[in-house]
Amino acid sequence: MSHAPQPLGAPVVRREGRDKVTGVARYAAERNLPGCLYAWPVPATVPRGRVAAIRTADALALPGVHAVLTHENAPRTREPDDPILAVLQNDRVPHRGWQVALVVADTLEGARAGAEALDITYETAAHDAVLTADHDGLYTPETANGGYPAVRERGDVDRAFAAAPVQVDATYTIGPLHNHPMEPHATTALWSQDGRLTLYDSSQGATKVRDSLATVFGLRPDQVTVVSHHVGGGFGSKGTPRPQAVLAAMAALHTGRPVELAMPRRHMAAVVGHRAPTVQRVRLGASSDGTLTSVAHEISTHTSTVKEFVEQAAVPARVMYGSAHSRTVHRVAALDVPSPSWMRAPGEAPGMYALESAMDELASALGLDPVELRLRNDPAAEPDSGKPFSSRNLAACLRDGAARFGWNDRDPRPAVRREGPLLLGTGVAAATYPVYAAASHASAHAAPDGSYRIAVNATDIGTGARTVLAQIAAHVLETPVENVTVDIGDSDLPDAPLAGGSSGTASWGWSVHKAATALVERLGESSGPLPAAGVTVTADTTDETAEESPHARHAFGAHFAEVAVDSRTGEVRVRRMLGVFAAGHILNSRTARSQFIGGMTMGLGMALTESSSLDPVFGDFTESDLASYHVPACADVTGLEAYWIDEDDPHLNPMGSKGIGEIGIVGAAAALGNAFHHATGVRLRTLPLTPDRVL
Ligand code: MOS
Repeated sequence: MSHAPQPLGAPVVRREGRDKVTGVARYAAERNLPGCLYAWPVPATVPRGRVAAIRTADALALPGVHAVLTHENAPRTREPDDPILAVLQNDRVPHRGWQVALVVADTLEGARAGAEALDITYETAAHDAVLTADHDGLYTPETANGGYPAVRERGDVDRAFAAAPVQVDATYTIGPLHNHPMEPHATTALWSQDGRLTLYDSSQGATKVRDSLATVFGLRPDQVTVVSHHVGGGFGSKGTPRPQAVLAAMAALHTGRPVELAMPRRHMAAVVGHRAPTVQRVRLGASSDGTLTSVAHEISTHTSTVKEFVEQAAVPARVMYGSAHSRTVHRVAALDVPSPSWMRAPGEAPGMYALESAMDELASALGLDPVELRLRNDPAAEPDSGKPFSSRNLAACLRDGAARFGWNDRDPRPAVRREGPLLLGTGVAAATYPVYAAASHASAHAAPDGSYRIAVNATDIGTGARTVLAQIAAHVLETPVENVTVDIGDSDLPDAPLAGGSSGTASWGWSVHKAATALVERLGESSGPLPAAGVTVTADTTDETAEESPHARHAFGAHFAEVAVDSRTGEVRVRRMLGVFAAGHILNSRTARSQFIGGMTMGLGMALTESSSLDPVFGDFTESDLASYHVPACADVTGLEAYWIDEDDPHLNPMGSKGIGEIGIVGAAAALGNAFHHATGVRLRTLPLTPDRVL
């Protein structure tokens, strides 16, 4: 090989980019298997009740319709590990959009026509789909998502807050939000003669899908293969198996043919999870020099009657700022709504919107610069646990960002910068996201021709996982990155955790690093040429990742934003956003930048365009497609810049990396909201900042 090894961190171009833009890359609904049938799911059209009767004769009489699966004839499945996967097993309708039938036909159009020809009657029951801050059903769960205790309390918050000379008491509201990846949730299912199940599934983690589907169908995991070579985004909604995988497998079993099921966009909101709405009350008490004396963050959210899922929005307040007195509380009400799930920095994204908006309100109340306020409350140890941080460079991010952005020239007075009808303002907010890593397996193979092959069931959801894993291996093997092949996206490869929690690279990369290291050792022990079959070693990081760290491990960041608010139309437009992140070693500067910018873009959507609502009468989301649920378009995304402070943190993993997939969104909406206040002098505490709210 003539190339020199590239250092970890080099801007290596993603490996599958060309395949994606030329259409060579195959997604879950693009397998074109011989004899494949198409399935169309049928969502319940009542908000709560039971299916009284389904008349299928008209649908079955249509040309090309092969089957209609309902709770009366669908294969009986075992109890799943996630109750959302118990589809077509009984007549219960827990929420509008719950799937009550599946039509299978020769063509997609035929299946859809069959679905329209079904005659379904329901018995309905009273429903309640709307969360309020004082909802009767609110209770305090044991834990919020991620296993975090629902309640943490230190000191005497009420007394400290009452005694504080400067107080902020503000309530922030965020409605439900949708993941809406570009590629809908899709599965192509195929049973072989010997009873093995193969799924081509759009998933963030094929090992998990394999295990869950094996449970549902009473199979051993080795009787199931799940392939997810390419995934067109997930944003958390593909982090756990989804009903379409079970439905496609049922239909394939029932018909004896391969079956493809791509979720119609308008069905997705009800069955792929969503970010639950939150009502968040934040109370901050400070002394007149800006030192926080009390922090209280109390959130109310909803879950469904199918499962308990509690958006952990008060958790970042346990990490961010020092204060002697603190209370963080989650309450949840189980409503007749679709089941919420993971979405784009669950917990941190909504929680930091509230906390970082309240910090801005406190800075205003103090007459103190909001960067300086954060610097004054930067704790030496994690406030909640007392653990030392493995590394915490929030202050460096704030200072570096302020310098790059030109923050220090800012006139702090609100509503003083104008360009004709436009009101201009700038804002700042902090970001944090925890460092996670899960056990992973990998293998490393050396071939006699001097090339290497890495195998790990990682998933590329658009981040460039193949590329960065090749870099990690090449770094250890001291070989050019082109000399390393990486196989991912197939559950027959070594087991690995999902692409989620911003932990993919850390988890998979750790096992790749370990396997490659073992391979180097093995090759060093042997002399002479390699055997014809080459040499393969495997690695498992179960032990390493199980160790509890004595350190609090989090990534941090700082967002700066400038907005222009049109005083005639109420339109808020971003002029620029600048983020500086401290996330350990950055392993690929090109793909990392893309992830930071991508996260910031999601924050832009959260602040300005993405809005959904639960209709109280219909008990369903009003905005169920991309025509009504607005994600930022290219024209909205201008002037985004991402930088980082390279950290040398020895308490993470062999690469020294923290996750970068989600921190870009955390705090971004608050920075924009704070810029809106600076522009207008008005505090809006409900997202998004759409013209109807602005005017
Ligand atoms: Mo992400 S919401 O952790 O898949």
